[in-house]
Amino acid sequence: MDELITHYPPEHKRAAVLWLLHLLQAHCGCLGREQVEWTAAKLGLQPINVWELVRFYPMFSEAPRGRFHLTVCRTLSCAQCGCGKIFQALEKKLGVPLDAVTPDGLFTLSAVECLAACGNGPALMINDLLFEHMTPERAVALVDQIRATGALPPQALAPLRPAHPLERRLLLANMSQPGYTGSLADYVAAGGYEALKKALALKPEVLTAEVADSELRGRGGAGFPCGMKWRFLDRKSGKPVYLVCNGDESEPGTFKDRQLLYRDPHQLLEGILITCHAIGAKVAYVYLRGEFPDGAELLEREIAVARARQLVGQNILGTGFDCEIYLHRGAGAYICGEETGLIESLEGKRAYPRIKPPFPAVYGLFGCPTVVNNIETLCNIPLIVRQGASWYHQLGVPRSTGTRLISLSGSVKRPGVYEIENGKVTLWQLIHDIGGGTLHERAVKGVIPGGSSMPVLPGDKLDIPIDFEAIRQAGSSAGSGAAIVLEEGEDIVGHALNVAQFYAHESCGQCTPCREGTLWMEKLLHRMHAGGGRPEDVDLLQDVADNIDGQTICALGEAAAWPIKAFLKHFRGEFEQACNGKGGAT
Ligand code: FES
Repeated sequence: MDELITHYPPEHKRAAVLWLLHLLQAHCGCLGREQVEWTAAKLGLQPINVWELVRFYPMFSEAPRGRFHLTVCRTLSCAQCGCGKIFQALEKKLGVPLDAVTPDGLFTLSAVECLAACGNGPALMINDLLFEHMTPERAVALVDQIRATGALPPQALAPLRPAHPLERRLLLANMSQPGYTGSLADYVAAGGYEALKKALALKPEVLTAEVADSELRGRGGAGFPCGMKWRFLDRKSGKPVYLVCNGDESEPGTFKDRQLLYRDPHQLLEGILITCHAIGAKVAYVYLRGEFPDGAELLEREIAVARARQLVGQNILGTGFDCEIYLHRGAGAYICGEETGLIESLEGKRAYPRIKPPFPAVYGLFGCPTVVNNIETLCNIPLIVRQGASWYHQLGVPRSTGTRLISLSGSVKRPGVYEIENGKVTLWQLIHDIGGGTLHERAVKGVIPGGSSMPVLPGDKLDIPIDFEAIRQAGSSAGSGAAIVLEEGEDIVGHALNVAQFYAHESCGQCTPCREGTLWMEKLLHRMHAGGGRPEDVDLLQDVADNIDGQTICALGEAAAWPIKAFLKHFRGEFEQACNGKGGAT
């Protein structure tokens, strides 16, 4: 704990609070009064400053849990592939309701929102380990095995799918090679860290110009031009500049940053180091979602390996460039994916998004100029430096250059992470050629092209190239590159309810339209889905969604409203049916 506190400026040591709470919870089993008061005293805070975190972040618990905490993902893609049956089987097996502890003190079963394993669902986490492709039988057998051995069986990430001819693998190139482990030796053998050497010989403004010329757009969701973001930095204030890597991958349907982090961590570290040199940052924080505990361990280990080879720390590669990279763990709140919510969380507070302006480039982490870039965005940087902006720019299409990782999930035969050139593959090709067609060979009912916060596109509108502008013109957004496929015969009202439940659960509660409106949408959809919808409910749902959209501090309001509005626009008849006594739960 004392070492972790040194990772933050002394006057901001409260930033270590999430770390301390993770460690205390692991050691003591829960976070009660004793742990909270101890943490507050350690960091010079009032107990209320710690209590508010324990109750805000879902990974923390005031009550003891079983020795093995089983969390099953309940979010859309996992719901499509049968997580409901996993819940049923485990509840029956354990004989206690959700969140209760079994009499032997061994197990607690809980529901969790998207675990970033959507293409390999249903997903189950037990303590720090992720189990993919779960079946009811496997889940029950796991419980038996844990009871018999008192330990968790080892688990590896499900393998990456082989490259499809329509793909252009650049970020996935190393990890697609047989035997590639992601170690420093493997990465260097594949040409890794050559871009850093080249970058350190260049002036920061030349590097920034190169990235700006490549027209790389952010891959986290908003698609903001990366070079422009770097240029917005306030360099006149004299304050230190920070880089924050947004590794809080939690948009439902998105599971590509996990692949980059787990399978090729040095690609990310090289991107971070080059970016720090370009923006003048001496410290970078990687904010990693709390549900990647083994990813956190892996990254810490690889940062230490890189430090031992003079790639991180003081006088990097003998050039006089100093840069520290610190890992920061979140604790299970979706809102931390929003960049100012993430910054608040990194400072040791609830992740309440800030009113903008000022933007992080002027007033970011610890009140200093800050760049927040997503994992995939940063992984593109070594490529741009190595091959040049003009090479990168000729990939893809104007205004959507380079390649893009697509997380494909839902009702499709070959879900997975794929890398395509922007604008060179259509949604139809993604689903039918790369994805092998719909799971039950029915017609595509719709596709959500950018994560569950984006509007669904109907199945007859699939001849759209996958790039930022084409998808925007079609009425949705490329968002985080997560394509969730829905096929005919699926329960659309149930899917809308699932999405509404997610945003109601994840609203930070700061703005009234979002806090109250998301709950109202959930309540209305619950009523419709249970067969008790009233004829006026469809218009009421539309009205509630309209009154959230555009009325909130951050984009979570839109994220909650847009999918519901799009479901109503394209599939209104199914909602009307649910409100005429003809629908109901399935
Ligand atoms: Fe279950 Fe993402 S892991 S929906």
